[in-house]
Amino acid sequence: MDAERGIRGSYWIETAPGGDPAPPPAGDVSVDVAVVGGGMAGLSTAWELARRGREVAVLEAGRIAAGVTGHTTAKLTVLHTLVYDHLRRTRGREGARLYARSQSAALHRAAEIVADLGIDCEWEEAAACTYAESPERVAQLRAEAEAAREAGLPAEFVTGTELPYPVAGAVRVTGQVQFHPRKYLLALADDLRRRGGAVYEGTRVTGLTEGEPCVLTTDTGVAVRAREVVVATHYPVFDRALLFTRLSPRRELVVAGTLDADRAPRDMYITPEQNTRSVRSAPYGDGTRLLIVTGEHFGPGTADVEERFDRLAAWADSRFPGLTFTHRWATQDNDSTDSVPLVGLLHPGSRHTYVATGFGGWGLSGGIMAGRLISDLVEGRPVEWAGLYDPRRLVSVVREGVSFLKHQAHVAKHFVGDRLPSATAPSPDGLAPGDGAVLRVGGHQCAVHRDDSGRLQAVSARCTHLGCLVAFNRAEQAWECPCHGSRFAPDGRILQGPAVRPLERREIPPS
Ligand code: FES
Repeated sequence: MDAERGIRGSYWIETAPGGDPAPPPAGDVSVDVAVVGGGMAGLSTAWELARRGREVAVLEAGRIAAGVTGHTTAKLTVLHTLVYDHLRRTRGREGARLYARSQSAALHRAAEIVADLGIDCEWEEAAACTYAESPERVAQLRAEAEAAREAGLPAEFVTGTELPYPVAGAVRVTGQVQFHPRKYLLALADDLRRRGGAVYEGTRVTGLTEGEPCVLTTDTGVAVRAREVVVATHYPVFDRALLFTRLSPRRELVVAGTLDADRAPRDMYITPEQNTRSVRSAPYGDGTRLLIVTGEHFGPGTADVEERFDRLAAWADSRFPGLTFTHRWATQDNDSTDSVPLVGLLHPGSRHTYVATGFGGWGLSGGIMAGRLISDLVEGRPVEWAGLYDPRRLVSVVREGVSFLKHQAHVAKHFVGDRLPSATAPSPDGLAPGDGAVLRVGGHQCAVHRDDSGRLQAVSARCTHLGCLVAFNRAEQAWECPCHGSRFAPDGRILQGPAVRPLERREIPPS
């Protein structure tokens, strides 16, 4: 449908498609460190360790840098909306300072890597701004500017920006970066290979036995033995510490279009208003830049995505008249219940297994930070901010009481509600082409989809992660699980974990 309108998918993937897929391992593999997941966190961790002489293998279920990292807005910044005032209240001034220092170190690390490897990734220095149009938010912005300054950042409160519409105020931090995330990561992966690291694509990890060594099983049938294992799969596919109780997945939409270069903002913007709006621009062509607008948060499987896309595009069009839409895509982030990523040892009994997750939409600086942190932990080096990010931290009523309980209530609603018998037994006959619905067929809850040619196909509607019922996202032609965000193609193939098994095929009896 988008192709008919000339609207393409992720700009980052379109403009840096990468070469042929790296094949899965031909036989069993033994390495020092196996990294599961080839996004920003996984590749950064693998590269840091390979640089220190470790033998490393990256195992990616799809293509590297093509999941969340391939669908990001690509802002590399330490200003994460309004996090510093929140951290000052929940983690104290020292917690906010450590967060700022660790994220700043990630930016510096990325700059060093770009310079050392000579990566051409459209690296542009810019200021990052969190703004609001409503005067009612000014006090909140002033508090954020003060907390960010206290944390050591060059933050200021301002009342004017270059945006073509008035704002009531903004927090502004200079010296931040916008770039092309795939050009950066594909170059990093090339350098990883030059250093002897292995990258395997099309290799889904399906099992982990912890020990010395740890053993990973894969869907290609090979085993990978590794002294250390890093789980960097976005939502962790192995959740021995029940992190799913502390992570909420949310989807977020992106629309992009061309604008005369002299009308495109050069700095990066975000507002928590209107269900979040984030704006940046990127180099595009003679006299134009690509305006990239992100927003419309919602839980997987819980919204009319087409309507949300329309709402976001209407907002972009009204704020930047003359915009010619060229691309749109969607991404998925995981929010931790205390707003701090979970990076470190996987669970209280872990000795050789690590996790990096819960970046809350800030996975570029967070992923680079995680790469440094985990590689230091693997080497037994002390890290000042290890405690801040430690996944084994206890749930705190002060830090995450309300969001923890809200998340539990949401998941419980699906865990319980999805197991109650459906009151209706509708027929698939009413499904329009391109639509899908969970229907009771032959006594089972089935996820039934009708493709554009009218052909019906059915798969089990029970998510293979922990059994919640999936829901259909018509705009993206995907089944989505509202509990922890697994996503599946209409034929049941996994598009996104934590599920590691596809939805089972079901037969539709002739009507
Ligand atoms: Fe956990 Fe579906 S993702 S039950």
